[in-house]
Amino acid sequence: MSKEKMGVLIHGAGWVSSQHIGAFQNNPHTEVVAISSRSLSSCQKRAEEAGIEGIEFYTNYEQALRHEGVDIVSVCTPQHLHAENAIAAAEAGKHIVIEKPIAISLDEMKAMRRAVQSANVKTVVSFVLRWNPLFETIKAMVADNTVGDIYFVEADYQHDISSWWTGYEAARKKSTGISAFLTGGCHAVDTLRWFAGKGQYEPADAVEVFAYSGGYRKGLDEEYDYFNHTWKKAPPLEYDDFEICLVKFANGVLGKVSVNYGCVMPYMFPIEIFGNRGTIKDNRVWSHKYPGQKGWVEIPTILPDSADVSHHPFQGQMDHFVECILSDQESHCNLEDAIKTHEIVFAVLQSCEAKEPIQLPLISG
Ligand SMILES: NC(=O)c1ccc[n+]([C@@H]2O[C@H](COP(=O)([O-])OP(=O)(O)OC[C@H]3O[C@@H](n4cnc5c(N)ncnc54)[C@H](OP(=O)(O)O)[C@@H]3O)[C@@H](O)[C@H]2O)c1
Repeated sequence: MSKEKMGVLIHGAGWVSSQHIGAFQNNPHTEVVAISSRSLSSCQKRAEEAGIEGIEFYTNYEQALRHEGVDIVSVCTPQHLHAENAIAAAEAGKHIVIEKPIAISLDEMKAMRRAVQSANVKTVVSFVLRWNPLFETIKAMVADNTVGDIYFVEADYQHDISSWWTGYEAARKKSTGISAFLTGGCHAVDTLRWFAGKGQYEPADAVEVFAYSGGYRKGLDEEYDYFNHTWKKAPPLEYDDFEICLVKFANGVLGKVSVNYGCVMPYMFPIEIFGNRGTIKDNRVWSHKYPGQKGWVEIPTILPDSADVSHHPFQGQMDHFVECILSDQESHCNLEDAIKTHEIVFAVLQSCEAKEPIQLPLISG
């Protein structure tokens, strides 16, 4: 193992970890030196798949954190373990990649913030769509005034999250999954913040949310099997499968965001951005910059149209994070910023219960 490279510990050897491993192996400044998980066989399987030999495997996370070659920890466990895993990594002085959602309560997020601040380590949260080629293109266009001043944005996470997912058992339960916006829909909430911000790397801050939840899957012991186009018996979701929320941002932009686990259709992630000089609908653009256009200008690029982790731009995220560590800069997608996205998610729950708008921030300054 070469000393010029930063060593990475992957914690939680499941579905998403395969992509973290690949991205860190491809980056010229990093290499995976250890994998820890609940079972040894999962660690071995991930290493074999990636063709990595001579690394350490652990079923004890504290021991793994004591590995001297580890500089970065990638937390890929189920969501209810992210806070304690990230806090332990910070206390061990490691830089941290934190999978979404970062935590399952406001108190957990406060504790994570304290640990990361006092350890002075770098963090990045896997709101990986910020590195999707369509997202990068839209952000550059918005910063370049293609749609003028934005007044409305919309993002929707439409995904039949169900028992096909290895992480479903923890995610479907109220005690460990909390809500549909938390377990999967937080990607859309983050997208809303990302496109409501005018600067190329600037998300917007929310000041108020109002939400409803509903749908039909809560408590239902059957689910749609998209792969076989059938319905089958399955353990139920313990929370509403549909949530919809209106967001008012500090910069005056209004947003609408929804998460839909009940949709009977392939995965979709539609985006709409309306400005006073143009409009963007997914990869279609109408702009004051193209006065001769007679139809939508379509950008040929990679859309956020797949739920498969191998389609997600983890390489861009990890390359960005490594660059942040090497140049001693904070990521636009660090823990502090991700707390702002998660605050909207928790405010949605509060709004549904109180049946009134909720003011933000809840815990961020
Ligand atoms: N950013 C994205 O686009 C994206 C995409 C997919 C998933 N995710 C997120 O990534 C996280 C993991 O999801 P996944 O799909 O990879 O789930 P997964 O396949 O179930 O993987 C989770 C892994 O964590 C391990 N684990 C569970 N409990 C543990 C414990 N107490 N100690 C140590 N390891 C433990 C399991 O280990 P064993 O196999 O050893 O039992 C399992 O392999 C979730 O928060 C999910 O939301 C994000």
